[in-house]
Amino acid sequence: MTLFKVDPYDGTGNGPTEYKIFVKNFPEVRLIRQFLRPDMEELSKEKESFDAIYSISVLEHVPLSALEEDVFPAIKMYLRPQGLSIHAIDMVRKGIGDKESLSMLLKIAELSEIPEVDVMQGLEQMDDDVETYYLSAEGHNLWRNGILYEKFPMRKCTSMQVCARYPLTSVYAQPSLNSHLSNKASEFFATAPSANQFNRSINL
Ligand SMILES: C[S@@+](CC[C@H](N)C(=O)[O-])C[C@H]1O[C@@H](n2cnc3c(N)ncnc32)[C@H](O)[C@@H]1O
Repeated sequence: MTLFKVDPYDGTGNGPTEYKIFVKNFPEVRLIRQFLRPDMEELSKEKESFDAIYSISVLEHVPLSALEEDVFPAIKMYLRPQGLSIHAIDMVRKGIGDKESLSMLLKIAELSEIPEVDVMQGLEQMDDDVETYYLSAEGHNLWRNGILYEKFPMRKCTSMQVCARYPLTSVYAQPSLNSHLSNKASEFFATAPSANQFNRSINL
């Protein structure tokens, strides 16, 4: 198995501060500490060879120009035919920043070749779904970090999964945090290996 892991998954927000420790503690993992782009020297011989390229709470922080010129061209270049591109996009569904969040989600979906109508359907489904999980009031209070509540009131924050296979045969945009898989997601994953069966994947 080859996994490119560059983040501790702890949401600390500034990338892997413990990089050297990871290198030491996980010798079986190949770590590349670089921005993903099409002409990476380390991956020059590995075009079309990854089963999946995935990210969690990352792409919404990356400038649009880098998503357009580097990240998505690279995703399409390094994935094997029918490989999976899976990205969880955190977003403000309601409250301060919701318009910017929606615009970013739609842009990421467009770069993933997912039709806007599918994204809007996914969002509607999320709004109606009692199992949708939102950032808690406690989380919000930590997040506002001393800013007066009146100036930064409660928001509905959640996460959407943007998934596609290239060349495009299957796509969906659905809430990430439901306890069940939607029909579309089940269909999408039915023919895919489960995450721990990916022979090779890139974690952004
Ligand atoms: C909320 S954290 C998510 C980290 C991890 N994936 C997780 O789930 O815990 C956001 C990550 O995006 C990365 N990031 C922010 N801006 C970026 C950029 N312009 N290019 C690449 N990564 C960026 C940060 O370094 C940080 O690791």
